[in-house]
Amino acid sequence: MIDIVPISPGHIDSFHQTLDVVARERRYLAFFEAPPLETTRAFVLDMIGHGYPQFVAVADSGDVVGWCDVTPKSLPIYAHAGVLGMGLLPQFRHQGLGTRLMRQVLDAAHAFGFSRVELSVRQNNENAIALYRRFGFVTEGFQRNACKVDGEYENLILMGLLF
Ligand SMILES: CC(C)(COP(=O)(O)OP(=O)(O)OC[C@H]1O[C@@H](n2cnc3c(N)ncnc32)[C@H](O)[C@@H]1OP(=O)(O)O)[C@@H](O)C(=O)NCCC(=O)NCCS
Repeated sequence: MIDIVPISPGHIDSFHQTLDVVARERRYLAFFEAPPLETTRAFVLDMIGHGYPQFVAVADSGDVVGWCDVTPKSLPIYAHAGVLGMGLLPQFRHQGLGTRLMRQVLDAAHAFGFSRVELSVRQNNENAIALYRRFGFVTEGFQRNACKVDGEYENLILMGLLF
């Protein structure tokens, strides 16, 4: 059984490993490996300290198998908006966990006071795009050849949700 819970300091090492696995797939995220563990630790502790939404999917073993978070934008005119990121280990996809993570994080983002959530997604990532659409995200923009991975260009889709 998998629980969806707010991230806590005890999850950080396992979250970092999961982030690294998804990054190394090279197909979904904007980086090819996780940031250094201490950078990740500082990021998560800052999220917890400010009460920003970050949820993890946790197996019975205590291992983090996925995450979903909304990070605020820093400049004043954008501060009502947060940027959503998420991922699951490959063997935990297509079981509804993305849906459960998304529901929790959007409820928390709304309760926190964000009035807009935005994200960017690589055009080939059809599973993620379908999930975002189901939650009411609409396509707001399209960046041509914004990504280049192993010599191949890919477009980036910009999506947003207003509360
Ligand atoms: C994007 C991602 C988080 C989505 O998570 P997910 O759990 O696979 O997504 P969903 O909850 O929507 O479930 C996907 C499918 O499982 C189905 N499903 C839902 N609940 C289910 C259940 N209880 N049992 C079985 N299947 C279920 C859904 O209907 C959906 O089917 P479809 O693909 O035929 O429409 C996941 O695919 C992932 O980690 N991808 C790699 C990282 C990534 O892309 N991150 C986002 C970058 S922008």
